[in-house]
Amino acid sequence: MIPRAFIIGWPVAQSRSPLIHATWLDELRIEGAYERIALPPQELEGFLATFAERGFVGGNVTIPHKEKAFAACAATTPTAARLQAVNTLWMESGKLHGENTDVMGFLASLDEDVPGWGKTLKKTAVLGAGGAARAIVYALLSRGARRIVVVNRTKARSEELRSRFDGSIELADPGDLPNALTNVDLLVNATSLGMVGQPPLEIDLAPLPDHAVVADIVYVPLETALLAAARRRGLRTSGGLGMLLYQAVPGFTHWFDVRPRVTPALRARIVADIEGKR
Ligand SMILES: NC(=O)c1ccc[n+]([C@@H]2O[C@H](COP(=O)([O-])OP(=O)(O)OC[C@H]3O[C@@H](n4cnc5c(N)ncnc54)[C@H](OP(=O)(O)O)[C@@H]3O)[C@@H](O)[C@H]2O)c1
Repeated sequence: MIPRAFIIGWPVAQSRSPLIHATWLDELRIEGAYERIALPPQELEGFLATFAERGFVGGNVTIPHKEKAFAACAATTPTAARLQAVNTLWMESGKLHGENTDVMGFLASLDEDVPGWGKTLKKTAVLGAGGAARAIVYALLSRGARRIVVVNRTKARSEELRSRFDGSIELADPGDLPNALTNVDLLVNATSLGMVGQPPLEIDLAPLPDHAVVADIVYVPLETALLAAARRRGLRTSGGLGMLLYQAVPGFTHWFDVRPRVTPALRARIVADIEGKR
């Protein structure tokens, strides 16, 4: 039987993961499969308990299942345990294992796009307080960020995020943005604003210093209005596509026993898909 992996989510139609894994399976001539499964929340528990019997070696987990999947794991990596959410599952010694690869994906992408970005991290600002923002705050702390300002519409959610991390997290309302952006070395958009079909992210970058880096984890469109504005100001930028590609590497390695590479060809294929040219 060929190894089969999955992505489960609700909805899941928008996911580019099947194309990423199909490209690697093709490129590496591996006989395997990666299947998209739309899984309503009430079916998650049953699916996780039986997927191995159904011939799956593991898979990816997306919204809204990341926290419940974490709870179902027999073992997780320290990163997943810290975030209490997983996006990658695999079976090991008959037990369900989980990891959160968004952290590593975000860091690998920023390292590639803006080498040396982490050298000055006196103050960073993260827009958003959802699951992705949580992973990014953790990633920034792991690289020595000293002062992180989280800006989110819903205060209760940013307070919940702050409660997960010791010290060093400050909260600001979107109305306080000019102040929050002053002296910021790195600004990250981890909200869904600016994504196709979502409201625009309206933000004035004027308070950012000239050495600031601007990252946006939204990848549809590939260049968001935030990134375009940062580029016009001459700031260094990093888009969301790299994070999407790099977060996929550990899962593929677990399921198919080969470590794939994020190549220009892979990037070009996903870009063509996002731009509707495939
Ligand atoms: N590049 C990648 O690999 C990658 C990985 C993960 C996620 N992402 C992207 O990151 C984004 C966030 O994902 P997530 O998993 O963190 O989602 P999530 O848990 O649903 O969080 C969404 C965030 O966006 C904010 N938001 C949504 N609509 C808003 C609005 N109209 N006005 C102000 N704030 C709004 C939310 O604020 P409230 O708390 O106020 O609702 C929250 O902070 C998505 O676009 C996702 O596609 C990209």
